[in-house]
Amino acid sequence: MRLDKFLCSKGTRSEIRKLLKSGAVTVNGEVVKDSGFQVAPDCTAVMCRGERVIYKSFIYLVMNKPQGYISATRDKKLPVVTDLIGEEYRRFEPYPVGRLDIDTEGLLLLTNDGELAHELTSPKKDVCKRYMAVTDIPMDKADSDAFSAGMEFSDFTAKPARLEFTDDPNTVFITISEGKFHQVKRMCGKCGKHVTFLKRVAIGGLELKEDLALGAVYELTKEELIEQIYKKEF
Ligand code: URA
Repeated sequence: MRLDKFLCSKGTRSEIRKLLKSGAVTVNGEVVKDSGFQVAPDCTAVMCRGERVIYKSFIYLVMNKPQGYISATRDKKLPVVTDLIGEEYRRFEPYPVGRLDIDTEGLLLLTNDGELAHELTSPKKDVCKRYMAVTDIPMDKADSDAFSAGMEFSDFTAKPARLEFTDDPNTVFITISEGKFHQVKRMCGKCGKHVTFLKRVAIGGLELKEDLALGAVYELTKEELIEQIYKKEF
């Protein structure tokens, strides 16, 4: 592959061109200034300002999505979640895995790895998503039974879901294994309750870190992400 592509984590195309021109990049100890110089993707001999560069083509980001952003990469009118990520990540062109509503907060994955994104959203994989929901009227035992039984909607049948009560009567945790449009709100609505606040707190075993600020992201490797998501199911 071309050396400028190999260096893609180091800056924009023009930044990389400048970096190469400045003589900051060596391959096997020799300064290389030619952007088209060929290196193997797994080459371990590329150094930039004395630091080894490892090529990566995929990126895996964990975000604490704030309200007011849509789960998309562009929109004509509204801010999108990728507006929140820095250029060092944006150049990999990540996109959200699944969707949180504009007024939903919490755990959102972004990647440019289509295969993994597909796997995580596939209904067959049954990756559980856990939400904290605040409702206008407290949910009760009958609601919990209705969740456990699964629910019929005109356009789909929701699989059995789990409702857990908390010390606050208006706050519950809800775990679903699908990701249908507005699913949590619709399931609560079927019980006659309106969701006034919704936050995703886990995807499989990957939990939203309490100290991850709204709008902040951190990067995981593919292995770390898979390990955390599948480490336990709720
Ligand atoms: N269910 C909803 O209703 N909204 C979300 O954003 C996610 C799950």
